[in-house]
Amino acid sequence: MLDDKSLPAFYNGDFMTLSQVSISPMDRGFLFGDSVYEVVPAFHGQLLGAHEHLQRLMQSLAKIDLNLPYSINDLMSVCQPLLSEQQACELVYIQVTRGVEAIRKHRFPVTAEPTILLYSQPYDVPFALDYQGSHAYFQEDLRWQKCDIKSTSLMGNILAYQQLYQQGHENDEALLVRDGLVVEAPSSNLFMAKDMVIYTPPLNNILTGVTRDLVIKLIHEASLELEEIAPTKEMLLDADEVWLTNSIEELKPIIAIEGKNIGSGKPGPIWQQLFTAYQELKSQK
Ligand SMILES: Cc1ncc(COP(=O)(O)O)c(C=O)c1O
Repeated sequence: MLDDKSLPAFYNGDFMTLSQVSISPMDRGFLFGDSVYEVVPAFHGQLLGAHEHLQRLMQSLAKIDLNLPYSINDLMSVCQPLLSEQQACELVYIQVTRGVEAIRKHRFPVTAEPTILLYSQPYDVPFALDYQGSHAYFQEDLRWQKCDIKSTSLMGNILAYQQLYQQGHENDEALLVRDGLVVEAPSSNLFMAKDMVIYTPPLNNILTGVTRDLVIKLIHEASLELEEIAPTKEMLLDADEVWLTNSIEELKPIIAIEGKNIGSGKPGPIWQQLFTAYQELKSQK
């Protein structure tokens, strides 16, 4: 097990280890959650979807009016030295805050420089083709109205996982319901399949998942039918297959919702096909 403190990091212009990073308590990321982030996966030292993740970071920064003096290319060259070819799976965590100010106040500071932190960390391969699947439960979506911004203010997402824990479902997933439609999970996008048509919620106050986009490309390449529609709870319970996507867990099959089996109660053939195509995509990196 790797000691977190020895993880390679980049902090405000310098490479160091994570243990050497010292962030002020007056940093607005700490005080207000006034910051945005990204998590980019890498396989044997090669990033997957790096441009898309960094572009989304730039979009998050633009949406909160935070001017970072780094280009996408600058950030690419910071990421590379943090990675190791020896590691099967690694992630690069990137966070940018609105910086440090002398006195705590809500209004944007006039002079603060953004704080930038990157570090890399190995992780275990999430699932193989023989994965038996996960369970999920519906919850009201408590989050704010700008879920397209990848903000570090994740209280709604954290409380969703805590509610699962309190209900004895700590290893399971939450499916977030907004105005009667199931839109997302606390850290993943949602897909379902019924009668050979795949459905995923449209980009309406949800995160534009990089894995969601990659999976949509794979769906088109496989000539499968896709509709961008947010399902109702009833549609999901009646689905043949359901799976979630994110950069670390990739494609995670959901085999039961509220204790009711989805389809056969096993990961289905469309998930298997897309999961296999996604593994090929990773190996081409
Ligand atoms: C709320 C939410 N939706 C979706 C995703 C999936 O995004 P990506 O595929 O870019 O990792 C994440 C990832 O962290 C997330 O937090």
